[in-house]
Amino acid sequence: MLFEIASSVVVAGIGGYAFCKKSGVSLATNDAAKIKRIFENANLGVKEEGRKKTIRLHRKRPIDGGMEYVYQMPLGMSFKEVESHKDVIEDGLNVQAAGLSISLSDLRKLKFNRTITKQIKRLLTKHKKARKEIELGFDGMLRIRVYDEPLPSLVKWKGQKISGWKVPAGMSRRGMIEHDFEAQPHLIVAGSTGFGKSVFLKQLITALAISKPDDLELTLIDLKDGSAFRRFENLKQTMYFATDPDSAGTALKQAQELMNRRLREYAEKGYEDAQEAGIPKRHFIVIDEAADLGKEALEIVKDIARRGRGPGFRLIYATQYPTTETIPSQVKRNIPARLCFVLDSATASMAALDMPGAENLPEIKGRGIYKRVKLVIVQTPFISNQEIKKQIAVHIRPRKENEHEHAANREGRSDTFVFSET
Ligand SMILES: Nc1ncnc2c1ncn2[C@@H]1O[C@H](COP(=O)(O)OP(=O)(O)OP(=O)(O)O)[C@@H](O)[C@H]1O
Ligand SMILES: [Mg+2]
Repeated sequence: MLFEIASSVVVAGIGGYAFCKKSGVSLATNDAAKIKRIFENANLGVKEEGRKKTIRLHRKRPIDGGMEYVYQMPLGMSFKEVESHKDVIEDGLNVQAAGLSISLSDLRKLKFNRTITKQIKRLLTKHKKARKEIELGFDGMLRIRVYDEPLPSLVKWKGQKISGWKVPAGMSRRGMIEHDFEAQPHLIVAGSTGFGKSVFLKQLITALAISKPDDLELTLIDLKDGSAFRRFENLKQTMYFATDPDSAGTALKQAQELMNRRLREYAEKGYEDAQEAGIPKRHFIVIDEAADLGKEALEIVKDIARRGRGPGFRLIYATQYPTTETIPSQVKRNIPARLCFVLDSATASMAALDMPGAENLPEIKGRGIYKRVKLVIVQTPFISNQEIKKQIAVHIRPRKENEHEHAANREGRSDTFVFSET
């Protein structure tokens, strides 16, 4: 510690050090000690031989944008308990006891010239605004990653084509996370109103349409008046489109019949699934506000979640109200992948993610938890309606064709398969 302070003083210079002292800036940024204190104060630990035992620092290492601390947990302490205290740890790290904490790397960046006062003032403002964020992990040891700055609150959609059926799920600390619909055929999306579900679905549909125009089929169900999906109604790839519970029931029935026909065709030809049959077509059923589906429609959704993978059917099931009723257990069991924006309670988070956590997300639009096997905090890509319009323009059916062709009639066209050896 003494050495750290000494070296920073040498690098930063005595002038800067004196200024920091005078301004009440603390050079000590010992988050490891802080974390231990937070655990003790929050009573996170176990009792052993009459004494409270808590985590013990094993090692630490710098990572991109922060530090990783690896702790040994006492026997009997659970990672779940630590996870449920994530906000306590994060808030504790952001409590500024005696003035502000400035990192050594920030001090090293100071240039000792006439602008030094300005530079330090800028540094102080930056640190007043900065909020550390943490990521928790457990692999026999408790890993706490402390990031000096939060994830960006806006990640613009880049417009690049997707490879395979991998769609961007969101920017994480370690780069863009993609959801691979070949590995995980279905996805549940949940989140309180106004935090990014529809924008996420729109970017997904756009990415699929521009990357896979010939292999994509869509069933789009938008039970919020169609305000989000209306722009995709006349896409060449859209086979069934619905904006109210009744027509949603019909659209899902048609999609289910198509799925059954394809299953029969595979069985006749002796193929197990679309991949084995060498069929590149994938049928995406995207439902925005699934809580408003009727009972019968929900039964079809359950069936597609259960049997859809083989014949190339993909389900994206989004809801603002995650409960055991709106996301039935059969749907959840068949859809382990989840993307969850902020929710108002741990109960809602349990319904969406099977664990608490989404209620503690910061109230940032597009900030979510993506769950495949592990949980990753992501910032989902933002795409504007103008950008969507521009991107999909070439795939919109010409007006004449629109007038003569009704959604229900489009089915026959895409239903002919050419089987090829793989
Ligand atoms: N990834 C994002 N990054 C930045 N801003 C976003 C992002 N996603 C959404 N927003 C902003 O939040 C607004 C609401 O998003 P969206 O319509 O997707 O919410 P929602 O979850 O579908 O809400 P509701 O449940 O009411 O339909 C958008 O109009 C946009 O301004
Ligand atoms: Mg919406």
